[in-house]
Amino acid sequence: MKYLRFVYEFLKYPKQVGTFTQSSKALAKKMAEQINGSPYIVEFGAGTGSVTKEILKRLPENGRLTCFEINPEFCRCLEKIRDSRLKVINDDARNCEHYVNNLDCIVSGLPLALFNKSKKQSILSITSKSKRYIQLQYTPFLGKKMKRYFSDVKLKFVSRNLPPAFIYVCSASP
Ligand SMILES: C[S@@+](CC[C@H](N)C(=O)[O-])C[C@H]1O[C@@H](n2cnc3c(N)ncnc32)[C@H](O)[C@@H]1O
Repeated sequence: MKYLRFVYEFLKYPKQVGTFTQSSKALAKKMAEQINGSPYIVEFGAGTGSVTKEILKRLPENGRLTCFEINPEFCRCLEKIRDSRLKVINDDARNCEHYVNNLDCIVSGLPLALFNKSKKQSILSITSKSKRYIQLQYTPFLGKKMKRYFSDVKLKFVSRNLPPAFIYVCSASP
């Protein structure tokens, strides 16, 4: 059902959703593994929650995961995840600072490569305030841009996803 919801929303808003299917388990796990024990996580573009669920598995009991998702149908899926550490916010990730103070660790599924220059810039200037920023993408060509904001940028490749994907793991210092 969630699969069909994803395809349907992609057909309606291709540039906003960015891909026709939610992240595979392998990709979601690899994304979540990068959080490195951070207790406060902010997720941008959580979709139907495949990465969200993997983050929750690794979050300490007193941790907090705040998800920003612009699509109300996807928010409905996220709200079905019963976990008191999770907060779902149906708003643009660019407004996150109205809701959260702690941006130490940001996990993002936003389709950055499809955003126009100013939208991309706004997201990157927010994420550059974090100590750790984990970004899912389907292109390996964003490294140069990321390096303008982060001193350390590592690229990981996950083949077990449709389409195969890249994860940028960015830190303020090595
Ligand atoms: C490529 S999908 C990733 C979904 C999910 N994280 C996954 O890995 O399966 C991108 C998601 O970003 C959301 N999105 C796009 N622009 C957004 C924005 N400005 N603020 C919040 N969410 C946004 C879309 O609705 C979509 O759910």
